[in-house]
Amino acid sequence: MVKKKACVFISGTGTNLRALINSSRSYNFPININLVISNKKNAKGLLLAKKFSIPFKIFNSNGFFYEKKILKEIKDKKISLICLAGYMKILSKNFIKNFKGKIINIHPSLLPKYKGIDTYKRILKNKEVNAGSTVHYVNEKLDSGRIILRKSILIKNTDNEKTLKKRVQNIEYLIFSEAIRRIYLKN
Ligand code: GRF
Repeated sequence: MVKKKACVFISGTGTNLRALINSSRSYNFPININLVISNKKNAKGLLLAKKFSIPFKIFNSNGFFYEKKILKEIKDKKISLICLAGYMKILSKNFIKNFKGKIINIHPSLLPKYKGIDTYKRILKNKEVNAGSTVHYVNEKLDSGRIILRKSILIKNTDNEKTLKKRVQNIEYLIFSEAIRRIYLKN
């Protein structure tokens, strides 16, 4: 199988990056991770890029030029899929247009509910029955692109933000890879 080249954008711990790296080591997973981009120079996830010898770049400035540099990196490396894995910066409409249909994001709620930040806090406050995570295409509107895969879990009455996050993240590690398989199985 000829694997597609993918880039993962991170800002933090990178546990989803870790899960994608693990999946990509299997010969029949459709992508390889050829680039990691972070907007934070201290993002823990960068240690994973180093550990697995994946080229990485840090872009922590704002504005048009920084995105232009990212775009150049991505085009030079012939990246065909961008996975946002905890990337806490909003991409410009122009950037998204350049990569239409090729950027996916993982979001810790059952979209379209609870777009934006602080999802666990809001979910618990509203006494929801279910929590979960969604992998979706990225469009110009925050957390609003077409859904690829979504998985829910039951909230326990003993759950707090920390325990809920842990349980939701455990399913994220599965559905991010599964969503990528589905994208390429179709094509
Ligand atoms: C994930 O829970 C994801 O849903 C959200 O940011 C978190 C990133 O965690 N967008 P990590 O950096 O992958 O550990």
